[in-house]
Amino acid sequence: MSSFKALMVHRDEDKTIRHEMTELQHGDLPADGEVLVAVKYSTVNYKDGLCLSGKGGLVRNYPHIPGIDFAGEVVSSSDKRYQQGDLVALTGWRVGEIWWGGYAQFAKVRADWLVPLADGLDCQQAMAIGTAGMTAMLSVLALEDAGVTPDMGPVLVTGAAGGVGSVATALLAARGYSVTAVTGRPETANYLRGLGANDILARAEMLEGGGRPLESESWAGCIDSVGSTILARALAQMKYGGAVATVGLAGGADLPTTVIPFIIRGVSLLGIDSVMASYERRLSAWNRLASDLPKPQLLAAMTVIGLGDVPSAGADILAGKVQGRLVVDVNA
Ligand SMILES: NC(=O)c1ccc[n+]([C@@H]2O[C@H](COP(=O)([O-])OP(=O)(O)OC[C@H]3O[C@@H](n4cnc5c(N)ncnc54)[C@H](OP(=O)(O)O)[C@@H]3O)[C@@H](O)[C@H]2O)c1
Repeated sequence: MSSFKALMVHRDEDKTIRHEMTELQHGDLPADGEVLVAVKYSTVNYKDGLCLSGKGGLVRNYPHIPGIDFAGEVVSSSDKRYQQGDLVALTGWRVGEIWWGGYAQFAKVRADWLVPLADGLDCQQAMAIGTAGMTAMLSVLALEDAGVTPDMGPVLVTGAAGGVGSVATALLAARGYSVTAVTGRPETANYLRGLGANDILARAEMLEGGGRPLESESWAGCIDSVGSTILARALAQMKYGGAVATVGLAGGADLPTTVIPFIIRGVSLLGIDSVMASYERRLSAWNRLASDLPKPQLLAAMTVIGLGDVPSAGADILAGKVQGRLVVDVNA
């Protein structure tokens, strides 16, 4: 087989991080994966921004191919579950962190990590969803499991114009929830309303004037990808019996709160992890994504870029400048 294109991250002896578009041979791929996939699309998530910049200690060995998710076509498989020509998707399992990931035209991975592409989705749509969308769906499922229903009141989505927030907004709105979208970018208001948000709340309003353990009961549920002060504020504003899905830390990993919302209002804080979620949970999430997520909203949230654009996109996502989902066409 001929060589193929990959985006590699190098760390020099002085710890400088460099990106290089390179040509690899198939023999360069890891030997221990059972399935060789011709990657069609990958994406840029917040975690990709960390891996691309060498931050967060996520990448252990260099040179490295990042890309924490991808969709593509099986070229060969020594595992009976997959055959040549099958369309597959991968999110999580620390692919793109400790394993080579999706920023290449081919990837070799374990069969256990793959899922068959859900009916009704093509590879590009699957990656418009990607890790962020999978996480948003797991969050919606967690709120549903906690008994949050559309008639109980509005649901707050923080970091709403980002990847997780955009898909969460569209999913909740499609299920009939009234969504209040928190954003630090007022210019995204029309975009967020197009995804289905009923109200827009400025991030500054969530940051100022807080500090009380309980405030007016405003939200039946919350999907939070920001953490820190904003998550603490959301907890103080939950209605009795409400539930908050905590997903991320784009605003900080701390949580300056008290136990009061939990013990006075019976609020639940639900931890969401997409990386090690079981195969069964992933399948049900992908099936719900394929059936629930309206295609016009999915496409509105998507921007397609080429492999060469990925390093600058990684810096942009860490700076909170990316709107919606960045899909990487690895063959462009
Ligand atoms: N638990 C999991 O399995 C899992 C899976 C995927 C992602 N995550 C985490 O979820 C978070 C979001 O990921 P993503 O890929 O959606 O990233 P993203 O596209 O960059 O979205 C994050 C959003 O958070 C807001 N934000 C950024 N900096 C902020 C700050 N300093 N203070 C308050 N808000 C800020 C911005 O939204 P606005 O511009 O609208 O304010 C930004 O668009 C990350 O922390 C990521 O690591 C976790």
